[in-house]
Amino acid sequence: MMDDSTDAYLHVAEFYDLLSQPHWDHIATEMLTKALADVDPSIGPALDMGAGTGQATEVLAEALPDTQVIATEPSPAMRIALTSRVVHNSDLQPRITILPDRAQDVALPDRLCAVVGFGMIGYLDGAARAKLWGRLLDRLRPGAPIVLELMALSTAQQMAPARIARRTIGEQEYDVWMRGEPATPDLMRYASTFTVSRHGRVVRRLQLEQEWYTFGAEQLERETGLPVRKLTNEIIVLTR
Ligand SMILES: C[S@@+](CC[C@H](N)C(=O)[O-])C[C@H]1O[C@@H](n2cnc3c(N)ncnc32)[C@H](O)[C@@H]1O
Repeated sequence: MMDDSTDAYLHVAEFYDLLSQPHWDHIATEMLTKALADVDPSIGPALDMGAGTGQATEVLAEALPDTQVIATEPSPAMRIALTSRVVHNSDLQPRITILPDRAQDVALPDRLCAVVGFGMIGYLDGAARAKLWGRLLDRLRPGAPIVLELMALSTAQQMAPARIARRTIGEQEYDVWMRGEPATPDLMRYASTFTVSRHGRVVRRLQLEQEWYTFGAEQLERETGLPVRKLTNEIIVLTR
């Protein structure tokens, strides 16, 4: 479990949905729904790893309307947004169990019908991923999916600064910029800048560095021994 002082998302949580909602509107909802189409909900609960503010959790719950969902999210700040999303939705509230543990440590039931991890697997190094696969594989029946969203980069490399989001709320504009560089051959260091502008003047600025292990779908196929299907460049399904 994380404590507040190590919460990498402490300040990002405020901006998170601004940045990610267009992605969910355009592609992620459709792809996740498609990936879950053949799931047998009678097997057991579904797991959403690194649930964040609950965008994947909500799609997962809609795709599997009779299923209980374990949503695990170690960041206290992100969990505030997740809990808020869940309590304001009478369908989600009885079905989403929110846990504060990391995916590789969370207590799990004997059987899971599906596992989802959007935008989180690169936080785990090789040893943490090995622990995770060891705990998940036994709990999945043949045919059950692990749906993951990776980053477009499968090896660490220079990434030029680019604006990755711009949204307006009220009189303020929110911009997110990102650049990246290799920290080691398989680890990217990303620097993000969040700005809030009003009447053309920046009134708040937040800078943040994060690290992300880079690997491709093929490496996950080797690690898990499961066949991989790519739904997009970034969204993949490993099937038990
Ligand atoms: C980029 S956000 C993605 C949130 C959400 N899945 C989505 O797609 O909107 C990554 C999330 O993974 C969480 N996270 C980081 N390390 C984790 C771990 N070891 N296990 C579970 N979640 C983790 C972070 O706290 C953060 O909320």
